[in-house]
Amino acid sequence: MSADDDATVGTSTRHGEAYYDPYDVDINADPYPNFRRLRDEAPVFHNDRYDFWALSRWQDVEPALTNWQTFSNARSDILDIIKAVSGAGVRLPKGAVLFEDPPEHTMHRGLMSRVFTPRRMEALEDRVRAFCVQILDAFVGERHFDFVADLGNEMPMKVIGMLLGIPESEQPAVRKRSDEILRTRPGEPLRVREDQIADGRMFGDYIDWRAKHPSDDLMTALLNAEFEDERGERRTLTREEVLTYTQVLAGAGNETTGRLIGWLGKVLGEHPDQRRELAADPSLIPAAIEETLRFEPTGPHLARYVARDFECHGRTVPEGSAVLILVGAANRDERHWTDPDRFDIHRDQGRHLTFGFGLHFCLGASLARLEGRVAMEEVLRRFPDWEVEHEGARLAPTSTVRGWDSMPVRLG
Ligand code: HEM
Repeated sequence: MSADDDATVGTSTRHGEAYYDPYDVDINADPYPNFRRLRDEAPVFHNDRYDFWALSRWQDVEPALTNWQTFSNARSDILDIIKAVSGAGVRLPKGAVLFEDPPEHTMHRGLMSRVFTPRRMEALEDRVRAFCVQILDAFVGERHFDFVADLGNEMPMKVIGMLLGIPESEQPAVRKRSDEILRTRPGEPLRVREDQIADGRMFGDYIDWRAKHPSDDLMTALLNAEFEDERGERRTLTREEVLTYTQVLAGAGNETTGRLIGWLGKVLGEHPDQRRELAADPSLIPAAIEETLRFEPTGPHLARYVARDFECHGRTVPEGSAVLILVGAANRDERHWTDPDRFDIHRDQGRHLTFGFGLHFCLGASLARLEGRVAMEEVLRRFPDWEVEHEGARLAPTSTVRGWDSMPVRLG
């Protein structure tokens, strides 16, 4: 019998102990029993097989997200990329805000938030609604609908495409490529290739064309924004930096929001009483979006590089380690939440950590919330009742974003 054979992986243990493995397909199907055991028995957990640490309690996770001096993003926030940077010397592109600490992060984020304003986001509501109406009207009178294939894959892509100014004909290719880069084979770590990390080359021709034909989109704003760089020089972004920014936005804005829509289909399908309340009173929808984000986060963990020794619960996480900050476990920590395994749209307990916290807090949170709300308003207006067709539902095989590739439902 191999060392692995006595492991009860997928329920909650390995060799009888609390365990977590982000690549394990069975655990990923329902990670919450594993998260609970980590919180209770191993709040500072070390995975010997893949050599990473994990924090799971709210009281440890939340401060870790603001403590960038210890928990650094400089080698990325994806475990496999941190390993590739530390082990194989893979280099990260400049301008990818998610892969930076201050002062570079402060500068790049400041620039991005200047062009990515709440006012610009609010102005999008009518367009987002028009996309949803166009997609959903085609299903009126139909018996089947897929929250991911029909809505989650389509609408966020159109929105980010419109924001960036990516022509509609190019959008499916952009989404496919961004998703593919994050895909893992079941049970295996991500294969990291330096030339694929935040690689914006596919936008190259388009950015050159846009430079000559300015418009009212984010790409034009990025091309023209003047700022003071780390050497105190006033300048605009280089072409390479604009390409990286564009890819970061296209990547961050598509898959996460698409997965949220899949989870809304599943969770509300399984809670018909709460769904009917929402249909009767759409003003409850924003609270339902927050509760869904808490209950089933599209990204259950954020990774960090440990830049200096960290002591916690009597253990030392040494400098040079990789650590997974399990926001999905903190979102269900019974030390912080009342009855956290219950889905409750009336929960009034403050914020979850699904958009992160602190200096990397999601720049697209208001846009994602808007897309989720408008999508649900339009879905519930047409289809107040549905049932999940579990046999056709497929969980995506990726360890970075957790959600459905397919979430089919029977309408009515
Ligand atoms: C449900 C949808 C979404 C979720 C759950 C989500 C989640 C997150 C999380 C957890 C982070 C922080 C990562 C870290 O601390 O390492 C983040 C950062 C970011 N997100 Fe989102 N996101 C969503 C949608 C979007 C959208 C729609 C956009 C843009 C169009 C976007 C753009 C960004 C950007 C630019 C950052 C980097 C911020 C920084 O490093 O300072 N996100 N997101």
